[in-house]
Amino acid sequence: MADYDRNNNGLQELEPSPVEESPLGSKEDYFPSQNTPSNPPQNLPTSTLGLSQHSPIWYLTRIQRYSSYVFTAYGVAHIVNTSIIPLLTASVPESNRYLLLTRPYYQGIPAEPLLIIAPLWAHVISGVALRIVRRNLNAKRYGDSGEKEGTKRSFFSSDFWPRVSGVSKLGYPFLPLLAGHIFVNRAIPQQFPGGQSNVNLSYVAHAFAKHPVVSYVGFSALIVVGVWHITWGWAKWLGFTPEQVTVQGGEGEVWQKRRWYGINALAAAVAGLWMAGGFGVVGRGGLAPGYIGKMYDQMYQRIPVVGQWL
Ligand code: HEM
Repeated sequence: MADYDRNNNGLQELEPSPVEESPLGSKEDYFPSQNTPSNPPQNLPTSTLGLSQHSPIWYLTRIQRYSSYVFTAYGVAHIVNTSIIPLLTASVPESNRYLLLTRPYYQGIPAEPLLIIAPLWAHVISGVALRIVRRNLNAKRYGDSGEKEGTKRSFFSSDFWPRVSGVSKLGYPFLPLLAGHIFVNRAIPQQFPGGQSNVNLSYVAHAFAKHPVVSYVGFSALIVVGVWHITWGWAKWLGFTPEQVTVQGGEGEVWQKRRWYGINALAAAVAGLWMAGGFGVVGRGGLAPGYIGKMYDQMYQRIPVVGQWL
């Protein structure tokens, strides 16, 4: 989506450092004799722990990648529970039974920290750390020694920061949206007697019935931003993005276009599926009756700022 530039005339602007590996890691192939402390030799023995010595970029890119694999597993379970099963059963109470069946696999200790919390932090922090490491590497490589002009550029100056890709641009808004979703569905219910066991798809259906505008806008933003980030993210891991086309010239451009449309079509299909079950079945489930409905109202009132109007 965001990465593809129709007017690029076959030219691409490339980052100074390769995406996967820092040149630091492979420098010794090109300059084998420079065994200075800043250019350590390539064939270092493994450490006492038996770990081979790679650059920080090598480790960070792998943390960013593999943490997203774990989170994807949770995402698949989540779309099954909140969209596919509701579509198949066409009933919120019936779907709740399946939700309760699978819940023990991802809620509680140790599943939740291992499947959700740790990979999420690892993914985001490694992404930010990668950015800082690459920025410092660029500054070092492209002469921010400060010796020539006597002025060192500020860390925050835009000069050496790596380009922010479309996937990353979607990743940042995804964060507050997901944090809000987790807060409403996981943190607030914990504050009530009975905790999470009070909450299921009926809790979401209640919000749609009572506050349709906030619910449709909020869930649409979460689904669209999340699904597009994850689909383009996977395309990048698998080497399928338009930027990763290696064929040059006109044929390359055709492939870039095909990939751009293909990835967006897939994202639209997944988002559409999620909305079909989420909005079409859960969203139309109606208000929860009696005591449970009152408790849900109290839960939604605990949302900071907007809660007072709910
Ligand atoms: C579930 C599967 C996911 C996949 C396949 C995925 C994939 C990716 C990829 C490929 C990047 C690197 C983009 C680049 O360097 O061009 C990235 C960055 C990012 N992701 Fe994800 N992601 C996933 C989940 C998440 C989640 C759940 C969040 C948070 C809510 C998130 C937030 C971010 C952020 C903030 C960045 C930007 C890091 C940076 O470059 O500064 N991602 N993701």
